[in-house]
This record gives sequence, structure tokens and C-alpha cells, in this order.
Amino acid sequence: MADSTFDGVDLHALAQRVGTPCHVYSATAIRQRIEALTTALRGLDAQVCYAVKANSNLAILQLMADAGFGADIVSAGEMLRAVCAGIPAGRIVFSGVGKSADEIAQALDAGIARFNVESADELQLLQRIAAERGAIAHAAVRINPDVDAGTHAKISTGKSENKFGVAIDEARRWFADSARLSHVRLDGLHVHIGSQMLSLDPIRAALRRTAQLRQELTAAGHAIRSIDVGGGLGVSYRAGHDTPVAIADYVDVVRRELDGFDGRILLEPGRWLVAEAGVLLTRVVRIKQGGQRRFLIVDAAMNDLVRPSLYDAWHDIVPLAPDSGASQRYDVVGPVCESSDIFARDRELPECKAGDLLMIKATGAYGASMASNFNSRPLAAEVLVDNGRYAVVRRRQSIHDMIADERAAQEWESA
Ligand SMILES: Cc1ncc(COP(=O)(O)O)c(C=O)c1O
Repeated sequence: MADSTFDGVDLHALAQRVGTPCHVYSATAIRQRIEALTTALRGLDAQVCYAVKANSNLAILQLMADAGFGADIVSAGEMLRAVCAGIPAGRIVFSGVGKSADEIAQALDAGIARFNVESADELQLLQRIAAERGAIAHAAVRINPDVDAGTHAKISTGKSENKFGVAIDEARRWFADSARLSHVRLDGLHVHIGSQMLSLDPIRAALRRTAQLRQELTAAGHAIRSIDVGGGLGVSYRAGHDTPVAIADYVDVVRRELDGFDGRILLEPGRWLVAEAGVLLTRVVRIKQGGQRRFLIVDAAMNDLVRPSLYDAWHDIVPLAPDSGASQRYDVVGPVCESSDIFARDRELPECKAGDLLMIKATGAYGASMASNFNSRPLAAEVLVDNGRYAVVRRRQSIHDMIADERAAQEWESA
């Protein structure tokens, strides 16, 4: 039988107490990643800004705050979460192509460290809002280096056809005109080409282009105080198949490619810090023999973990019931009314029966943070486990909470 303890907590007992589906995160595993990254960065003037989108639960953000990490945010909501968790505004960077005027104003008022600016329009808006407040905004240009991250198309961000960043030529023009910006200090570069990268080659290529631009800008008299290398490090979703890059090798590439740069290096890892520290616990509802396939129907669904439906992503699945020795091939599916509500196709697993507990692995990143109420399914509980103890860090949403903001149309107004 597979090991059913996770960070010292028995998952059968936990599932009894908290119910399923339920996201479970290991604090110990996250601290180990934090420590490995911190060790690898020793000797560099570096600040890690955890990408909040990967897992935005306050308890996870608190682990990052405790480590002295900052936050990479893409909305005012993520900023509020980071600040609530104790991450100082001075360690927050704001990325994203659609920052609204209101979000920019809130971030300026909070005093965040830096805006990663992604369009000329956004730069002008930042200048105007900062001027209205008599504030100085520190900004980096997010460059789009036109490098293929070699990952799934839906998580590639550094090709010229993607919406992210600006071409290097445009970045050059921004710096050439930067003296006109009275309230924006344009003194940083930012690059992030994609997620779940399992090779260092695209990272090296993107950093090389960024470093060349930095040298050119410095030679032209522009002070570049920070280079933000983004996130994107891949993790193992499929044991024996995925080979993630070693963290020391990744940092080595950053070190080499940015050699000679005497400013601050910012890093925005998300997935690498939390993905493998999380599992999704789910129970078998029933087994259904279809015309062509055998379905293992579980109580988690695509609204709890959308990666398999959205990206055809693989997650290892481990039944936690005693193993009879027999195996079966199943399509592991959820209750949602979509044929894409599928966690695994034709997967060989130990034979299961209704009521068995399963663990879907490596769900700590882009799991709960991408969850929805599709099919009016309340959001799952989230639990942090830490060396034999557990704490519910998000209670299961009730159906009443879920519909609390809705009402039948009674009072009609004109606009
Ligand atoms: C700007 C930026 N930084 C960092 C990240 C984090 O990426 P990852 O979770 O792959 O490390 C993302 C992910 O989309 C991003 O868009």
C-alpha cells in the first residue's frame, strides 16, 4: 500500500476530518524549496518575489514572508493578499498587461517596489497617475525576447506573438525618451518567457538578450538598477519522466549570463516553490463501465484542478487504499458535465472501489488558485500540514457562501 502520510499527517484521518476534495500542502516541503533557493543565491544581490498566482493562500504567502521573500503580483487582489500575509510593499513587484488605473493608483499608494510595464499606454498611465500623486514610480520594461520557452503553448509568454512585454527595439525607444518621464524612474529590465520549463536553454537565451540590452543601455548612460529574471522553472509531474533542472544549475545560468551587472537581481518563481508540496485528496464516488472505457469517477473535478483539462497536463495519481494486487486501466474523471473533466486517460492503477481515497500529486501550484465554482461546486478546503500537525487554511466553501452575492432581479434601475 502506498504511504498515506504526508508531512507526518495521516491522510486517511485528515480526509475523515476535513472531507474531500481537499488541497493539502506540506509546509516542510515548501521550506525545503525556500532554503535550497536561498542557498543557491548566496553571494548574489538577489530578492525572490514569489509569484502569488501559483498558490495565493495566505498561509502559503506567510511562509514566503517568513523567509524574507517578496511577491510578484498581477492584480490589486494579489497585492492585498501579499500585504495581509506580512510581505512588505517594498518587496512587491507588479506584472501584467492589463493593470487598470485603479490598480496602479492602489499600488502606488501602497508603495510597491516596482512596476513591470508591458505597453507604452501603461507607461503613460503610470506617469500620469504618479504625477497626480506627486509620487515617483520605479519601473522596469518587460521585454519580449522572442524566445520559445519549449513548454505548452498556453503557458508560453516570450514569443513575439504573445501578449506579454514589448520588443527589444521598443524598449530601447522607451529608455531613449525616458527623460520625459517626470514621475517614472525607468531603471529596470524584466523578462519572463514561460512556465514549466525543463531545459535551461531558453532561459539562457532570454537572459543573454536581456544582458546585451542592459549593457547597451548602460553604455548609453541609463542606470539599470534591477534585472528581474521572472519565474518559469519546471517541476516533476510524472515520476520517471519529467527531469526538472537543478536549482543550483539554474542560478548558475543567472549568475553567468548577468555577470558584470552590479544591480539587484529579482526572481519570480511560483510553481517550483509549491507545486510538488501539494496533493489533492479525492474519493472514488463510483466506477462506471462505459461502452469503450472504464471510468473511475471521483469527487474532485476540473473546477478544483483545471490543469489536465486546460493543458492536457499529467498528474501522478496514487490510490491510498490497501492494494489487492490487481490493476485496471481507468479514465479518472470528475462529476462536472464536460467531457474535458478528466484527470487521467487510460491510466493503469491498482484496482479501486467506491469510497477509496486517492491522492492526485503535485497540485500545490495552479490548483486551488485556478479553482472555480463551475457546476455550482463550492471551493474545496485547503489544509497546511507541518511535521505531524495540520491546520485548515481555507475552510470548505458552503453553498450559502457561494450564492451569497446573488439575488433574483427585483429592483430594476436605468443606466
Ligand atoms: C510575470 C510572471 N512571473 C512569474 C511567473 C511564475 O511562473 P512559474 O510559476 O512558472 O514560476 C509567471 C507565471 O505566469 C508570470 O507571468
